[in-house]
Amino acid sequence: MAQDTQAPAPEVSTAQHGPVRVVTIHNPPVNALSAAVRRGLFDAIEQADAAPEVQAVLIVSEGKTFIAGADIREFGKPPVPPALPDVCQRIESCTKPVVACLQGAALGGGLEVALGAHYRLAFAAAQLGLPEVALGLMPGAGGTQRAPRLMGVKAAAELMLSGKPISAAAGVKAGLIDQLVGDETLSPLAAGLAYTQALLAQGAPVRRVCDLAVAEPAAALATLDALAEDTAKKSRGLFSPQKIIEAVRAAVALPFAEGMALERRLFLACIDSPQRAGLIHAFFAEREVAKVPEARGATPRPVARVAVIGGGTMGAGIAVAALDAGLPVVMVERDDEAIARGVANVSKVYDGLVAKGRLSEAQRAATLARFTPTTRYADVADVDLVIEAVFEDLEVKKAVFRQLDAVCQPGAVLATNTSYLDIDAIAAATGRPQDVIGLHFFSPANIMKLLEIVVPARVSADVVVTAFELAKRLKKVPVRAGVCDGFIGNRILATYKQAADHLMEDGASPYEIDAAVRSFGYPMGPCQVTDLAGGDIGWATRKRRAATRDPRARYVEIADRLCERGWFGQKTGRGFYLYPQGARTGQPDPEVLAIVDAERTRKGITPRAFTPEEILSRYLAAMVNEGAKVLADGIALRPLDIDVTFVHGYGFPRHRGGPMKYADTVGLPQILADLRRFAEEDPLFWQPAPLLEQLVAEGRNFDSLNRPAD
Ligand code: 3HC
Ligand code: NAI
Repeated sequence: MAQDTQAPAPEVSTAQHGPVRVVTIHNPPVNALSAAVRRGLFDAIEQADAAPEVQAVLIVSEGKTFIAGADIREFGKPPVPPALPDVCQRIESCTKPVVACLQGAALGGGLEVALGAHYRLAFAAAQLGLPEVALGLMPGAGGTQRAPRLMGVKAAAELMLSGKPISAAAGVKAGLIDQLVGDETLSPLAAGLAYTQALLAQGAPVRRVCDLAVAEPAAALATLDALAEDTAKKSRGLFSPQKIIEAVRAAVALPFAEGMALERRLFLACIDSPQRAGLIHAFFAEREVAKVPEARGATPRPVARVAVIGGGTMGAGIAVAALDAGLPVVMVERDDEAIARGVANVSKVYDGLVAKGRLSEAQRAATLARFTPTTRYADVADVDLVIEAVFEDLEVKKAVFRQLDAVCQPGAVLATNTSYLDIDAIAAATGRPQDVIGLHFFSPANIMKLLEIVVPARVSADVVVTAFELAKRLKKVPVRAGVCDGFIGNRILATYKQAADHLMEDGASPYEIDAAVRSFGYPMGPCQVTDLAGGDIGWATRKRRAATRDPRARYVEIADRLCERGWFGQKTGRGFYLYPQGARTGQPDPEVLAIVDAERTRKGITPRAFTPEEILSRYLAAMVNEGAKVLADGIALRPLDIDVTFVHGYGFPRHRGGPMKYADTVGLPQILADLRRFAEEDPLFWQPAPLLEQLVAEGRNFDSLNRPAD
């Protein structure tokens, strides 16, 4: 019969079940290890150790997660004791057997609590991981010392360096988990009690991981040398991966207590790094973006079938994204030839997966059975949501929407994937503007995570929440944007690309610009991206806009000169770079440098040298300044929406949090001073955003605007 004892803290309660003291964690939503949970756990173990009626301790959690790890919201604030390593140490030093029963996620500090216990039981669906690296951190509560002792250096280092969780079954194989729960219908409490009682009946002893030695230490050190080399190549300037390797090395080479002390020092260095601040900003921002004003009170419309209009680059990618989410998809094209191309575009993706062994023939057949290609608009009459991805031409799109208006059932959501066009105008072409919204996917649409949800003036709130719900099903990161030329992402991109063009004409080579941008943490520079996407795409846009361009604005023609020669990038074998014999990595091209030079001469510009720092400060100041204008115009709800857009759609290095977070890190007065300096050369282009001036005057940063949307 259970007998309640006094709860040490509301987040942690204890109960006596025969000889077993059950310690239950209850800290919704994910049982993060807040100060109160740490205190509660520590005290509960202390009391159980001292109580004569206790023969064993069982740690369980309520809810679907065992423990998601340290409370990330506490990082960067003054630490409150007890520290998590001390809690784990107290669990391990208990003189009575301690069992942890894991369900759902046992991540980071959560897994470390379990490693402090003497026995670990897990439900089959449990996910075990040390994902700290994704937050710019490393395990800091004994994970780097205990995991290698239990599972060997290679598997432990991979768990920490990849940050990816493993299944409970894999945990058993690796030696992390002692037993899987036999009866999945049991509660963690019932399963844990049965296991603990069985252990007591067998006379199972206290068993501490700290007493183990790492297997085959010489081989383990050699493995770490190889991993260190590999990590240096792959982690592109990230701070914490090398610290993880250093700490694991201590698990092999040093006594446990010294290893723990080193882990602590390295962990605190990670905590102090700006990368930690950037990555944790990104973590929370990705969750905040879904909190939009429309989410309050509106219910999403049901979406069981979708249609895609257009089977080109984007239409096919969107169709694959929807098929992958399990939705039936109708694809409409103009004629038989075009629909055959659309079908081929979709099939190519699945053929590739089958060839790589990532999909079986049967899975491909089952997926494609949900795919209906057609040339008749009438075939979309019963779908719940349509995504148009035809040519980027307002008149063509309006005509498509008129057809959709005529055939679609009432209440169907009508979305456009336009990159730049006025969605209010597209909506006005229908008799149901309340149902029309922008769903701006990024190429390749089945891979890229970002989805800009563009909200026109007359759309109803339930359509907006339907779009957010769809994003979740498609595993996308949705960002709410307002209607303007280019929305959040492409509008800001257009501005900093111009800054890059100006730099090129004024003296920086395309290769210097790309190298500077890569040194910041981008996978590619802007000229490499142009070569990859195809120079002709931007050229078409520039030609379309030539008539409406501000005649006072500076216009750089270097990219046009390349396109006039048919140099569209990788697909034509040359662009800003040379790609001999279909090479995917480009080589600098002396002829491009000559063209750049000729353009400078034609404009009477004497080239000057730019340091990588100067290139970056212009590139980023242009980005941040336009970001501030986008905010002031209400196109982005908060700075964090811009951050998420650039991290997930434009390759902005995640460890810097996003452009607006980066601006806060540098300091807004510095960005403003840079802009004013650049404005002396070109006042029109570099005019500081009034919002930026205002924030500087008030001594505030962008983060002060990241309040929840109301
Ligand atoms: N601390 C504080 N809050 C957390 C948190 C954490 N560790 N993990 C999740 N949350 C919050 C989220 O911000 C979100 O808050 P919101 O509702 O206000 O937006 C809420 O919990 C629910 O989170 P999700 O929306 O992510 O819920 P899911 O069910 O989709 O995912 C999860 C659950 C898999 C646990 C996921 O939240 C996750 O991966 N969390 C982070 C895990 C992690 O990185 N742990 C390591 C922490 S660092 C550490 O432990 C250091 C140690 O070694 C000393
Ligand atoms: P694309 O040229 O590859 O495909 C367009 C397709 O639409 C063609 O297959 C064409 O036959 C079809 N089409 C044209 N009129 C049609 C009609 N009336 N009915 C049915 N089908 C019709 O173009 P892409 O690149 O796929 O772009 C499509 C849209 O997506 C554009 O609005 C573009 O701005 C936008 N977009 C493009 C991105 C990219 O990287 N390519 C990224 C994000 C958005």
